[in-house]
Amino acid sequence: MQLENCYWLTLKHIPRRLMRKPVPLSSVCMRFDIVTIFPGFFTSFFENGILRRALAEGLVTVDVHDLRAFTHDRHRTVDDRPFGGGEGMVLKPAPLAEALASLGIAPKAERLCQGTTSVVPQELQKEGGASAPEGMLAGDPAPSPRDRVILLSAQGRPFTQAMARELAALDRVVLLCGRYEGVDERINEIYCDMELSIGDYVLSGGELAAAVVVDAVMRLLPGALGNEASSEFESFGVADAEIDTDVVGVPRSQYGAGGLLDYPHYTRPAEFAGLRVPETLLNGDHHGIRLWRREQQLRKTLANRPDLLEHAALSKEDRKLLDAIRLETEKQGPGTRD
Ligand code: 6GU
Repeated sequence: MQLENCYWLTLKHIPRRLMRKPVPLSSVCMRFDIVTIFPGFFTSFFENGILRRALAEGLVTVDVHDLRAFTHDRHRTVDDRPFGGGEGMVLKPAPLAEALASLGIAPKAERLCQGTTSVVPQELQKEGGASAPEGMLAGDPAPSPRDRVILLSAQGRPFTQAMARELAALDRVVLLCGRYEGVDERINEIYCDMELSIGDYVLSGGELAAAVVVDAVMRLLPGALGNEASSEFESFGVADAEIDTDVVGVPRSQYGAGGLLDYPHYTRPAEFAGLRVPETLLNGDHHGIRLWRREQQLRKTLANRPDLLEHAALSKEDRKLLDAIRLETEKQGPGTRD
């Protein structure tokens, strides 16, 4: 862990009053490096919200590296025309390789020799419970265990909450932001442990995706939300029994829990624009609240992401309730929201 890097953004962007509770860097500080041709893109993103806090608390460091700093020509050229013809420009391999070298990142082959693992074992298939790092298949070469180099591109494997959790367990993540029509494939081949996409649409570059990955991962770091437990409780795949209540027995937010969407939330006032908050939430009956919220999770998921129900952890009661909701929806006919 390089101390000077850990404090780079902290000192530059965070007011002193926010710099409380310094955390021992060697044990907890996670490091992101972002390689981009638009370093300015990330400035406001780091100055706000949870990331600002996580930086101030020393939980995470994010260093942004301008790809043009690794060019040697007068025009600081980072891209060139594609071999074989066609539209657009491709990011040249040399500046990217140099940027990675400057970060101490060796080609995959060399990192593998240094690391303890050489391949993702076959038994770590997804179905097996334990998993290979997402975005990697069993049999893929595995990088040194606590670092990843990730290329962000529309051609990548889909980024998921499960993947965010796996990345949150690492020491260091290097994000390469693709641009133009793409990145010279040899960079992917030589250096990248995975290629990630944030969804089925095309962005003009990987910067937004890098910001999404940093946000999703960083908020899972212990202490990032100001509440040790919150991110753990809302993560995908955690058994429902374990995430039912918070310390005072109130059923808590379960975004993604058991593979379902979260229930709707309300705050004061109890009546707004003629609409009253559901009575169940106002009377302090925790059991009633829990049932109401579970039903709402099922309704939301059925309405907005029915695909999630296939893999969701559903109890017998959940299934009964779902059948009832489906029947009700069928009766109401098309055109209803949920
Ligand atoms: Cl990571 N990059 C680009 N250019 N487009 C995307 C994406 C990434 N993820 C979804 N669309």
